[in-house]
Amino acid sequence: TKLDMELAAIEKGGYEHFMLKEIYEQPDTIFDCLRGRLLPQTGQIIMSGVDNHIDALKNAQRILIVACGTSWHAGLIAEYQIEELCRIPVEVEYASEFRYRNPVINKGDVIIAISQSGETADTLVALESAKEKGAFIFGVVNAVGSSIARLSHAGAYTHAGPEIGVASTKAFTGQLAVLIMMALKIGYAKGTIEESRYLSLMKELEAVPEKVKEILADTSNIQRIAKKYKDASDFLFLGRGYNFPVALEGALKLKEISYIHAEGYPAAEMKHGPIALVDDKLPVVFVATKDSYYEKIVSNVQEIKARKGMVIAVATTNDNIIPGMADDVMFVPDTDEVIAPLLSTIPLQLLSYYVGLAKGLDVDKPRNLAKSVTVE
Ligand code: G6P
Repeated sequence: TKLDMELAAIEKGGYEHFMLKEIYEQPDTIFDCLRGRLLPQTGQIIMSGVDNHIDALKNAQRILIVACGTSWHAGLIAEYQIEELCRIPVEVEYASEFRYRNPVINKGDVIIAISQSGETADTLVALESAKEKGAFIFGVVNAVGSSIARLSHAGAYTHAGPEIGVASTKAFTGQLAVLIMMALKIGYAKGTIEESRYLSLMKELEAVPEKVKEILADTSNIQRIAKKYKDASDFLFLGRGYNFPVALEGALKLKEISYIHAEGYPAAEMKHGPIALVDDKLPVVFVATKDSYYEKIVSNVQEIKARKGMVIAVATTNDNIIPGMADDVMFVPDTDEVIAPLLSTIPLQLLSYYVGLAKGLDVDKPRNLAKSVTVE
């Protein structure tokens, strides 16, 4: 009815789709997630769920991360962060695989469960059985009071607010914000992170909402790129280090929203297979911000260009090498590499949105997908 349509328009707050609204909410949702927790002035991070169990967390022999979909990608980023900052071995598990293969779980093992909805059946059941075996479950959940939040021994909400678009955007960056704060807290308590790095990472994190705003301020270039490549039948997404899971998430988002086949790969692994796909019709998205892998990724870009592939790069604003090599560039502000995924993922969300839009697809409700998968 007309009333339903008007109500839907009001809910979208002037945006054409929930997905775009939720992408644009990120400066606020990330800020809300950090607010009251991240206190760079006093050098504190306040998260009661972590504080109350700091011994279990910092003394963990290993940490298992269990999730599905986009939340699993947040887990991969956390793996890199926790291993670097806390020196604790981390394994990231697809919940569906983890639950069926009779995994080794010992009493006191720490499991971080990541879920937007808090209702994903595979994640929920995996956690139930791990809990029975004596694991300590820490939930990183968006939906307050959800099943996974209730099942967890402790947790930290992502505070992204309700996410309506089926493809996860603001919940993902909320997860990243919570997970990096956890890694910083645990690493600091454990003494595996130097005070100066701890403080500088806190400052970098505090600056993220403003930097996301900068990316969102002008998307005309991303819209142009989306139109240029919308008819491609395949996409490759490549990244290294902290940006490798970002490449996976970029590929997943494009698949979900535009129905274009897309694969994410570690950039160095492409020579073991995907490089065979490269021709003048294949767009290759490089997540290539300035970090400790930068020189390596520059040579990966060269390898693709030498085979006539089309390169779309996510690059750091002041970069003067990649823009000279890539066919198209989407810029993000500079930050520490540990924090970079919070920024480098934003242009990829927008790219998927605008490709889906250009193809006239239902970006908020892609075919065959569900917002929360409560069946196995
Ligand atoms: C579905 C959604 C994804 C989400 C995944 C995991 O596939 O479409 O956006 O990442 O489930 O959901 P969760 O609620 O557990 O994060």
